[in-house]
Amino acid sequence: MAVVGLSIVIMNACTTTTETVTYSGAVESIIFNNCVTCHSGAAPSAELDLSSYDAVRASTETGNLLARINDAAAPMPPAGLMSDDDIAAVEQWAADGFPQ
Ligand code: HEC
Repeated sequence: MAVVGLSIVIMNACTTTTETVTYSGAVESIIFNNCVTCHSGAAPSAELDLSSYDAVRASTETGNLLARINDAAAPMPPAGLMSDDDIAAVEQWAADGFPQ
């Protein structure tokens, strides 16, 4: 419960400021820390390479990246959903129009 409460506080803090979530400032490191071990290289999982801005944007905009990072039944990463803060950051980045 303490962790959930903390996340809500942080998310509220984010939504009440005008701070922009950028790819270079936040999303890139989230994806690199959680996704590119499988989704990059010569044979990326699901033929989905997430090692560039364009690729992550495309998967968010026209693919099911947002669905899968929120899907507890088929989570990405497969080991379990990321923290609420990391998920919220990617969603905010999409809502803001994918700032670089
Ligand atoms: C341990 C390896 C691994 C990691 C880490 C991983 N994935 Fe995946 N991913 C897979 C595999 C394997 C599939 C194909 C099977 C499936 O859809 O569950 C997949 C499928 C997907 C799909 C569906 C692609 C499609 O065409 O339907 C998306 C979107 C996705 N991953 C996004 C992510 C994101 C975003 C992260 C990080 C937050 C991530 N994955 C981390 C292995 C991984």
